[in-house]
Amino acid sequence: KDLAGKTAFVTGGASGIGLGIASALAQAGVKVMLCDIEQGALDKALAGLRATNADVAGVVADVSLKDELRKAAQATLDTYGDVHILVNNAGVGGGGSYGAWTDASWDWTIGVNLMGVIWGVEIFGPLIERHGQGGHIVNTASIAGLISGSGNAYNVTKYGVVSLSEGLRAELAPRNIGVSVLCPGFIRTRIVDSARNRPDRFPDQQQVRPSAEAEWLETVRARVETGIDPRYVGDLVREGIEGDWPYIFTDAEFEPVVDARFAMIKQGFDRIRDRTPPAG
Ligand code: NAI
Repeated sequence: KDLAGKTAFVTGGASGIGLGIASALAQAGVKVMLCDIEQGALDKALAGLRATNADVAGVVADVSLKDELRKAAQATLDTYGDVHILVNNAGVGGGGSYGAWTDASWDWTIGVNLMGVIWGVEIFGPLIERHGQGGHIVNTASIAGLISGSGNAYNVTKYGVVSLSEGLRAELAPRNIGVSVLCPGFIRTRIVDSARNRPDRFPDQQQVRPSAEAEWLETVRARVETGIDPRYVGDLVREGIEGDWPYIFTDAEFEPVVDARFAMIKQGFDRIRDRTPPAG
């Protein structure tokens, strides 16, 4: 696929991986509408990209609110006419493991990481279909969407994004829309400080984090701070769109953990393979 001259809509475009993707696409001649909840960061990102002669615009929206996303889609059409590429990337690291769950954390994490992706597909899918030129959807999940971590909202949403992406890939292929799921490892972004953009309607009841949670968060912070450059991830995503890759990984660190999970699943089949289920 030649991406030059196409238009992309990238959520969470003001920071980290989203900004890396926006930058890589703009360099390939794509017009990019950056969408983000944080106006200040968005303005800065736009200024940086424009300094490289990128054709970019910005719109503020909270992806967990369908109406805001609908308005952002309209703004994209008003600015660029058509849209070909949707990158559902906005996401937050939220929600503790068992024992540290709160209702608001589940709602926030599911609202942004999962419903935001679902709304994105629902709103932009028909817009990509209608011009008949085909297009592509990239959903940012995580390697956490493929391995067994703790029972927390983040991992649950990322499994959801993986499932949605695989299902849509099969369904949208006949409509000339490719679907890729991005499953990054540790990337140097602001993900650990996600709470900076936690809307007030999801009040953080978790005033005192159990110490185990705090320790885990510090481990993640250290890995993220020394993580992969998001610009590299952006280049991989551009290549993944061009090549219609089903899965876009950033590194193979967790491949053995994925293998171990598959082995566990296979063992489940092995246990019952020779048994005959009674007819209903
Ligand atoms: P980041 O915090 O640097 O960027 C996320 C962007 O999303 C920010 O600009 C933020 O303002 C925006 N955002 C947050 N809530 C929003 C909302 N409700 N509506 C619209 N925009 C919103 O973090 P990062 O790492 O770049 O995150 C991007 C995606 O990558 C997320 O889906 C995350 O789960 C995923 N990811 C990140 C990894 C990492 O190591 N950094 C690893 C695996 C996946």
